[in-house]
Amino acid sequence: MKFFIDTANLDQIADAQDLGVLDGVTTNPSLMAKEGITGAENIINHYKKICEIVDGDVSAEVISTDFNGMVEEGEKLAALNSQIVVKVPMIKDGIKAIKYFSDKGIKTNCTLVFSAGQALLAAKAGATYVSPFIGRLDDISTDGLNLIAEIRLIYDNYGFETEILAASVRHTMHILECAKLGADVMTGPLSSIEGLLKHPLTDIGLAKFLADYKKGNS
Ligand code: E4P
Repeated sequence: MKFFIDTANLDQIADAQDLGVLDGVTTNPSLMAKEGITGAENIINHYKKICEIVDGDVSAEVISTDFNGMVEEGEKLAALNSQIVVKVPMIKDGIKAIKYFSDKGIKTNCTLVFSAGQALLAAKAGATYVSPFIGRLDDISTDGLNLIAEIRLIYDNYGFETEILAASVRHTMHILECAKLGADVMTGPLSSIEGLLKHPLTDIGLAKFLADYKKGNS
């Protein structure tokens, strides 16, 4: 399973990269705004900085909602760095744009996916990644994890190569459940990744080992 971090915060991206388990980054316009990154030039520079920190794929979202606009923006973004994945919303023109990018060998991430039907369409268009937002489904009392299971089944039935990128991951258990269901990738906050480290018996065991070592070597 690939681990992506879902942030535009450079310190958190660097922290995750230092941990040695990071495979990529996802951003979106809200995450950019949260870091105070505004204006086309600053946004482009920020993507360049992210690409310098990480080795893997970096999703950069288009703002246009029409085919021509998405193509123009996406081509500019893709030209920044081979790590860039053009993030395209799940709308009609978005599907057309994904097909266009896919035919040109430009990587895509189909975002804002909330149903298995949408995921099927994204795969048919040749998306590199499909992003079902599990946390936002949970927020409205719908089973986000069940969507991962449905998409896994459909993709496996037909051998689609589109990778299932479980997005809107909010906590550590989401990561574990997505791993059990066979999601190819998860993207979440640094805290959700660090949560995987924690177990009280590890802390108790380590304290005992160190105390025993001290006894025998003092
Ligand atoms: C996906 O790529 C999005 O950036 C993200 O996962 C959305 O998460 P949220 O629902 O926590 O905003």
